[in-house]
Amino acid sequence: MCGIVGYIGTKKASPILINGLIRLEYRGYDSAGISTIEKEELSIMKDKGRVKNLYHLKGIDDLTGTIGIAHTRWATHGKPSKENSHPHMDNSKTFSVVHNGIIENYNELRNFLTDNGYIFYSQTDTEVIPNLVHYYYEKDEKTDNLRFLRAVKNACSDLKGSFAIEIICKDYPDNMIVTRKDSPLVIGKGENENYISSDIPAILSFTRNFYLLNDFELVVLSRNNVVFYDKDLNPIEKDTKTIEWNASSAEKDGYEDFMLKEIYEQPTAIRETIGAKFNEETKCEFDELNFTKEYLSSLNKIYIVACGTAMYAGLAGKNAIEKLCKIPTEVDVASEFRYRDPLVDDKTLCIFISQSGETADTIAALKLCKEKGAKTLAISNVIGSSITREADYSIYTHAGPEIAVASTKAYTSQVILITILSIYFAEILDIECEKVSLLKRDILQLPKKIEETLKLSEVIEEFSKKVYQEKDIFFLGRGIDEAVAKEASLKLKEISYIHSESYPAGELKHGPIALIENDITVISIMTDNTLVEKTISNIQEVITRGAKTLVITNQNVDEDMFDRIIKIPETNPFVSPILSIIPLQLFSYYISKEKGLDVDKPRNLAKSVTVE
Ligand code: F6R
Repeated sequence: MCGIVGYIGTKKASPILINGLIRLEYRGYDSAGISTIEKEELSIMKDKGRVKNLYHLKGIDDLTGTIGIAHTRWATHGKPSKENSHPHMDNSKTFSVVHNGIIENYNELRNFLTDNGYIFYSQTDTEVIPNLVHYYYEKDEKTDNLRFLRAVKNACSDLKGSFAIEIICKDYPDNMIVTRKDSPLVIGKGENENYISSDIPAILSFTRNFYLLNDFELVVLSRNNVVFYDKDLNPIEKDTKTIEWNASSAEKDGYEDFMLKEIYEQPTAIRETIGAKFNEETKCEFDELNFTKEYLSSLNKIYIVACGTAMYAGLAGKNAIEKLCKIPTEVDVASEFRYRDPLVDDKTLCIFISQSGETADTIAALKLCKEKGAKTLAISNVIGSSITREADYSIYTHAGPEIAVASTKAYTSQVILITILSIYFAEILDIECEKVSLLKRDILQLPKKIEETLKLSEVIEEFSKKVYQEKDIFFLGRGIDEAVAKEASLKLKEISYIHSESYPAGELKHGPIALIENDITVISIMTDNTLVEKTISNIQEVITRGAKTLVITNQNVDEDMFDRIIKIPETNPFVSPILSIIPLQLFSYYISKEKGLDVDKPRNLAKSVTVE
């Protein structure tokens, strides 16, 4: 939610900032703006709408400043408009600020500042920040080179909520200050130049060396230096981390959209996440984990907590952990879990899944579990992300950067990783079963089977063209297929804006079947041979009421029964979601294209939900 970029170096800042914003646009696209220091004065150029609008602003090409900050907005406080766009300045035009997050006590601060003579020009929570910095700056009697830093530190101590902030000051044209609390921000180190970004892919083409920042740390950047301070302004040392992702992984590479590219990257993402060390002969190991039989046997429960698609990946985790390890496992939505006083104690293991590692609700749920004494394990796609720094243990999917707002390769990578985690648990618990060795074999065959599944693309495109004008589409499944139905339904609504519902197939007759009428499209997923007969009966119930049916299956069934059948390769039921979701990802994609929508940036959404 909201993307921020910063640059300080020897090059013209504005093109670098705009380029960074374009790459971060998936975090929000309500407005965009940049601020640079031009001949000792602050300049701000901003507008409502997409980043590309900045190219048309008068004077944008004349900017020559080599220090600047930039923002692309997902609106929270104040409607999308030019005046609510970032950057925001203080009244004296000394400080310019961009902010990602929410200042929860902004009303109180605004009243305080208004009482002190400050005037506000926007409805945003952010505008209090530059004015508060100015308030402390003016109160400071010392005029040494730490005055700017002290003012930022004092202002930030008053802020409640979440923030990643970049600030420049016209009196300090060779410095930029950044800080964060509960919102993402990384610092990219270059040669005589430094970069700031909300996430790594946006500045990967400039550097692979990054500093990660903890909550409340403050950073003063100059062209040749990056100096870190703790919240009390004691200097601290930090080392850079080198990121393995290459710059092209954050490009479209000839694909029309990131989503399509990411769908096609799934064989590689799964191969990389399985890793070279995984094999049929030896026990599963995670370098990052050291669980013991004694600890796992002592658990009363495992919780898997996440949001959206990541939560649906958690359902596959529950299936594998309960069936292989016999440990009761619950899956919950982070935003609900944290407010319902969950029964968590030191005998509970809490697993958190988050592609970005920055989802506010998931992080808050993790903190709650830690307070309650549970061990916490994060599954993330982003090395050094906030969630991995909070958790006791972290393991990673290796999907590469996921740029499209709709998650695809991250979901399948999460499913494979949590399945491997459940094998790891089962082996520690000495659960000798044929199921485990068969599953290992089937996992190793998956990348090839994904490649085969992707070949169904044309058939799916053709089917999508027939139904793209529908108003409602239903998804059905039983067992693990129901989890896939949920994910398929979410994917369809978010990028095609078609209303869609998913139901356990057997639940239809308890109410939802009232919605089935002539010609409505019902898509069923059927991969578990123990449940095929039952699911077919449920599909018959909707056919009788006039529904058009599409079935995704790896079973041998009478094809004439349905309007359309898509055969996917057979695989182990524990990992079948990885294959069965692929036709449905493509289905949503083609429907969205057929409707002429922006697949990568669906309306109202943003990647990385850093607000609660
Ligand atoms: C849907 C989607 C979202 C995310 C959710 C959690 O396609 O991408 O539902 O899965 O916002 O995000 P992360 O995994 O970053 O915590």
